Amino acid sequence: MTAKSEQMIKPARNIAGTLRLRGDKSISHRYAMLAALAQGTTRLQNFSTGADCASTLACIGALGARVNKTADAIDIEGLGGTLRAPAAPLDCGNSGSTMRMLSGVLAAQPFSCELFGDESLSQRPMKRVVEPLTRMGAKVETSDGGKPPLCITGAKLKGIEYATPVASAQVKSLVLFAGLQAEGETIVEEPLRTRDHSELALRAFGAEVHRSKNRISIQGGQKLKAIEAFVPGDISSAAFFLCAAALFPGSSLVVEAVGLNPTRSALLDVLAPMGLRSSVVTLEEHNGELIGTLKVEAGELKGMTVSGAQSAMLIDELPVLAAIAPYTKDGMEIRDAKELRVKESDRVAAVTDNLRRMGAQVTEHEDGWSVPGGQKLHGAEIDSHGDHRIAMAFAVAALRAEGETCIMGANAASISFGEFWDTLNQLAER
Ligand code: S3P
Repeated sequence: MTAKSEQMIKPARNIAGTLRLRGDKSISHRYAMLAALAQGTTRLQNFSTGADCASTLACIGALGARVNKTADAIDIEGLGGTLRAPAAPLDCGNSGSTMRMLSGVLAAQPFSCELFGDESLSQRPMKRVVEPLTRMGAKVETSDGGKPPLCITGAKLKGIEYATPVASAQVKSLVLFAGLQAEGETIVEEPLRTRDHSELALRAFGAEVHRSKNRISIQGGQKLKAIEAFVPGDISSAAFFLCAAALFPGSSLVVEAVGLNPTRSALLDVLAPMGLRSSVVTLEEHNGELIGTLKVEAGELKGMTVSGAQSAMLIDELPVLAAIAPYTKDGMEIRDAKELRVKESDRVAAVTDNLRRMGAQVTEHEDGWSVPGGQKLHGAEIDSHGDHRIAMAFAVAALRAEGETCIMGANAASISFGEFWDTLNQLAER
């Protein structure tokens, strides 16, 4: 089945089966960008099939790195540190990760280029990119208000010490990628610990990166060497099925070869007290990343408060948690998640809108929601707001609603998880 822009979701009575997911979006972006900079040919298995990572591949291709797709891998021929000036502006599509992290790579390259995105990306904040890269010596221009397109003129960079004002793994990563190519040492200090895939990927490609508490340092001038890697299954994609399973006591699900990096697996810690027991059946390390098989079994769905550092760790999973919140016994409070307002859509507003369409009571705050528990929702017409995680979150909520739900703009799911609709049909027992 190809993804349609509308999907009808029927209620389910259970979630059961075994799931194997395509490669993690965050890790795929990083491996592709570092592969382009490295010496030699990098072979990546289980690379993300999402449109966002395809945007990254197209950009590095336009920057001179040859990308060859074979049946079971993607080969990227690295350029040994110096990329080529692209013939045209770089299209980042819907992908904030592509635009932001690639900026760190481009800041040290000997040419100017422009990066642009779709309507949603054109509204997203880029001052967080401009500030550190300008301090390092690059010239970075945005449109009025600090929005894309970005115009980057590379320069010989100097290392800086930079405290990221918001907890953002993308900002940390772009500073590290620029720091790798700068003169001297670059130190990034983050207010809260965010996903550490860039640190692990840089090490896998042969660079030395040090961490002491929330300070990460990298010495400039290090050369990267190509790797062979398997990209772990995307735990943020698994999140939709973990939450779907949590909706039905007695559900049980096995997730194979999924990324279990502790900076990404906070959802398991939140779902456990909510009633979803999980156990790690196998665990291996590949290139610093943990990959394992996860088994989950659902009990009664209880409520929970998510706030502070936990909200930052769970930023991509909060929409689906909020979407199942009305079905919890005691309700949910989700706060300290103001960053959700500047994602692919204003996710705080989009979740409130769709919960209300399904008849739920919800109080919206600037930084999250309060959702009473024990509610009964009905099928409705859902607006994905063009946002992949909103489309998938409400497909999950629809599984326990009364009547059918129509997800409008369902094809947005292909940004991170093109196989979502087929997988949902396979795992939902009706
Ligand atoms: C990402 C970091 C997060 C996340 C995004 C992917 C990454 O964004 O929401 O989906 O791969 O580093 P921020 O860095 O803006 O928090």
